[in-house]
Amino acid sequence: MGLMWDDTDSVGVPELDLQHQQLFNVLCNLMAHPEASVDSELIADALDQLTWYGDAHFRAEESLLRAHAYPLLDEQLAGHREYRRAVAEFCFATTAGSDKVPAQLLAFLRSWWDGHIRGADRRYAAFLRERNLV
Ligand SMILES: [Fe+2]
Repeated sequence: MGLMWDDTDSVGVPELDLQHQQLFNVLCNLMAHPEASVDSELIADALDQLTWYGDAHFRAEESLLRAHAYPLLDEQLAGHREYRRAVAEFCFATTAGSDKVPAQLLAFLRSWWDGHIRGADRRYAAFLRERNLV
């Protein structure tokens, strides 16, 4: 399952790119350790980082898009809400010791990467670029 960060993943804003790369690293770590158990440090660290990301990164992204009156802001906000809800559920499921968490978390992040970061985020990147805002 090859997955690489490349220049087309850049949204043109260094802070946001760095945060996307941090999320990418979490994904790579999960992919590298498919045997990780629900009570492992790897899963605990991943959930910590995903929770932090859902706060700091989304706040930075949303304030930038709001400042530029991004027309698809509502869609972006809905995606972020969905992410936070999913991560909170993974935290509950981990506390409950559900052994499905590692595989489900990996599948979730994989689809977040393909659908949101390489979908919705690329759309706002194009919007910012077209207006010479980045
Ligand atoms: Fe993002």
